[in-house]
Amino acid sequence: MSVRTLRLPRPRHARRAFGAAAVTAVAALAAATLLPTGQAGAADTTLRSLAESKGIYFGTAMTQSDLNNSALTAIAGSQFGMLTPGNEMKWDTTEPARGSFNFAPADRLVSFAQANSMRLRGHTLVWHSQLPSWVSGLPTTQVKAAMENHITNEVAHYKGKLYSWDVVNEPFNEDGSFRTDAFYNAMGSGFVADALRTARAADTNAKLYLNDYNIEGRNPKSDAMYNLVKSLKSQGVPLDGVGFQAHFVLGQVPSTFKANLQRFVALGVNVAVTELDDRIQLPATTASLNQQASDYATVVDTCLAVTGCAGITQWGVGDADSWIPGTFPGYGAATMYDANYRPKPAYTATATALGGGSTSPSPTPAGSCKVTGTVSAWNSGLTEDITITNTGSTTINGWSLAFTLPTGQTVTSSWNASLAPATGQVAAKNLSYNGALAPGASSSFGFQATHTGNTSLPSLFSLNGAPCTTA
Ligand code: XIL
Repeated sequence: MSVRTLRLPRPRHARRAFGAAAVTAVAALAAATLLPTGQAGAADTTLRSLAESKGIYFGTAMTQSDLNNSALTAIAGSQFGMLTPGNEMKWDTTEPARGSFNFAPADRLVSFAQANSMRLRGHTLVWHSQLPSWVSGLPTTQVKAAMENHITNEVAHYKGKLYSWDVVNEPFNEDGSFRTDAFYNAMGSGFVADALRTARAADTNAKLYLNDYNIEGRNPKSDAMYNLVKSLKSQGVPLDGVGFQAHFVLGQVPSTFKANLQRFVALGVNVAVTELDDRIQLPATTASLNQQASDYATVVDTCLAVTGCAGITQWGVGDADSWIPGTFPGYGAATMYDANYRPKPAYTATATALGGGSTSPSPTPAGSCKVTGTVSAWNSGLTEDITITNTGSTTINGWSLAFTLPTGQTVTSSWNASLAPATGQVAAKNLSYNGALAPGASSSFGFQATHTGNTSLPSLFSLNGAPCTTA
């Protein structure tokens, strides 16, 4: 399909009436490269629904500031079924001063997850990092009480709301020795069992995990974690799972990943990929993005192949909110969505590995909808009228038309559909009276928007997850 983006002349006079003095054009809508798979909002084609149909979850991490990013939240709330607060449940936020608890930032993320029917992974209770100095400065005789009090209060606050807790994070050095942090120095390796027991006493339902990085393959560090899990299980310490952070470097998913996960499952625990990303030396190239797609597929294939792998969480939603560029200078592009929250090859590979079709995992075949549009623009605003036609052979009951607004356009009002968010990747949903579209039938809706110079029509239309043709 040829790509044609309509650019309309912008009259310099003020707008006089809707569509009257404004320039009007009916055009073939830009049909650029169709998205490989469902946009945010396309319930049947999301990573979340594909994963759940395979019996695992697919999650993401979000921080409080991400809640203000409408492109990010639209994807998070539709594509992911599990949420991990990226920082807000850590000790430096939740108990910055002894006995003084602050759950407000994490509570906002919990509300977002609940509003989007996402489950939650609590992260994290006991960790050497993002630990306030009052803890590391305590006399060793006081650390146990402080740790138990912290766990008891935080777990109690979220009791009944979380799927799991990363109770202890990153206890090991690379050589498999225990990290000599405040907890180990005060209690020896017994701090792990004590933390787990304290967490279980505060919430009997949340699954309790130990979590670490560089334990994905067989190595001294994963051997140490394995031996710890074995020892804890033999003592009857409450432990449900081990989280493998999976902060991978491009092309370096360990060949022993699957066998390693399997040996943990054999000890009677679940395993989960808890912080997946795959960092690329910048600038990313077609070859590196394709290698990344292959790495993501390997991770999904591995989890699906291991009975007892509960799910996968990506650390962040897209490259724009990923922690990688800030922590590993020169590296980035580590997630499935690019800096503008468009799906990358890794997204398609992930959806495919989860059982989605390689080009369109939607049960609705591409081409069962056709979209035409009209735009009327003036110096700072425009109106657009869009008509959807059901070109398939079955009635569509309830529609959500996803499309990408050109940069600079912001929706200010709409008619015959509800639109959200106002910029970027927008979903237009039918209202109560126009949701049914019989074969051959059409429905029109429209919106008014401000613009900053680009008056092009939207692009990349998909109806209920299936790409539409544009007339
Ligand atoms: C990271 C966050 O993403 C950053 O925003 C923060 O500055 C540092 O921590 N392992 C973990 C996560 O368990 O908590 C870390 O998150 C990434 C590495």
